[in-house]
Amino acid sequence: MRKLVISRFRNAGTKMRMRFRTILVVVFAVLAACSTGRTDCGQPSASTWKMFDRRLGMFVHWGIYSVGGWHEQEQMRRGIPRDEYAKCAERFTAERFSADAFVDVAESLGADYIVFTAKHHDGFCMWDTKTTDWKVTNTPARRDVLKELAKACRRRGMKLGLYYSNPDWHHPNAHNEKSTHQILMELGDVPDMEKYIAYVKAQVTELLTNYGEIVCFFWDIPPRIDCPEMDVLVRRLQPGIMVNDRGWGNKATCDYSTPERDYKWDTQSERHIEACDAIGVQSWGYRANEDYHTYGYLTRKIDHFLSTGANLLLNVGPKADGTIPEEARRIMADVGKWYAKVRDSYRDVKTVTDVKLATAPNAIMTRRGNALFVHFPKGLDATGLDMRPLSMIPEKVTLLNTGATLNARVELMPWNAGSFMHDTLHVWGIPANELSNECVVIRLEFKNYCVQAQEESR
Ligand code: GLC
Repeated sequence: MRKLVISRFRNAGTKMRMRFRTILVVVFAVLAACSTGRTDCGQPSASTWKMFDRRLGMFVHWGIYSVGGWHEQEQMRRGIPRDEYAKCAERFTAERFSADAFVDVAESLGADYIVFTAKHHDGFCMWDTKTTDWKVTNTPARRDVLKELAKACRRRGMKLGLYYSNPDWHHPNAHNEKSTHQILMELGDVPDMEKYIAYVKAQVTELLTNYGEIVCFFWDIPPRIDCPEMDVLVRRLQPGIMVNDRGWGNKATCDYSTPERDYKWDTQSERHIEACDAIGVQSWGYRANEDYHTYGYLTRKIDHFLSTGANLLLNVGPKADGTIPEEARRIMADVGKWYAKVRDSYRDVKTVTDVKLATAPNAIMTRRGNALFVHFPKGLDATGLDMRPLSMIPEKVTLLNTGATLNARVELMPWNAGSFMHDTLHVWGIPANELSNECVVIRLEFKNYCVQAQEESR
């Protein structure tokens, strides 16, 4: 008894010391966050915001290429001489641009962050840079659209990341013949990588100093020239920033990989993954008669990546007047409605790797405590499921797409009876045909989910 009392006192003392220590840690953390000067006090800083948390982001490809309404690489793909391409800048008005409207679209999707193309391969700068005249404030738009976007994002709690192309089809020093995405040199070009690197560093410094918190940096097209100090600079300017693997020889130190479109659906990587795709099939930038991906394709793609632990960036291409095409807005909102219904299946979950459904091997499962989520990014073959090896009755089975409760029973299924004489969990009555054009996710809530127990009972 005495021992118990002493140990209680000891515990109380230890608890008080721990509380005091916790208070100190919190005070120091708050002071440290406020002292960076780049994050608003009270707003979570980049270091406390966890970017890789099975999140959706909205990618925005916007530049003077939107004037042609064909493709963001129109200059190269149609062999347009630099002088002629420069005329696009004269027709870039952004007269109907509203940064809030961009954030509205991102919110309608359910995105947690926006990644904006600060500079694409044409080298055109979508911010008021001091490094070149080839910039948005020299077009009829006369606005620093990045500044407006950064402000709107900050005000509305939307995180912001930047895309930056390493190839530059405008800068006379930029040519790097070992790189992909090059353009024919023009008269007056003097390739000089040292000068070009200095230019990139100056631009990166502006981007990561003047626009508040930037949560991620999406380099595009590795230049195949090593310049490790580039990422050192990025990280010094924005501690906590996440940097992708398409940079200046940064494969060993970068934070994440960015598999694109159908190039790789693979999520086996030692790094974080942020897959990216566009709602438009042909182009990332605005294309007047774009072929749009179906709702089925988009919802399945999102589900595939989020359920396996990755993030996904979904791209829209605004027009030269600054508006996001109506069809694109509708697609983002429709996908967002689906996402809002199934989002619970990606929150604080782990991807289940110790159980595979024998009769639906393509299904992916995620789990949070006693809730098990079954995802069908490859579609459903039937209106019901033999969920072998699961053989425990859940308290509730919900079809997240509609909110409907589904039937479930543990029973002997006839198809394999004889060779497999065990009761298994059977879920039926899924309106699979009605939902054939969207990714289906089912939530099973157990009283006490335990794989061990089920395996024993098999
Ligand atoms: C590719 C394309 C580029 C696009 C990017 C998006 O690198 O060349 O135009 O911006 O993908 O990830």
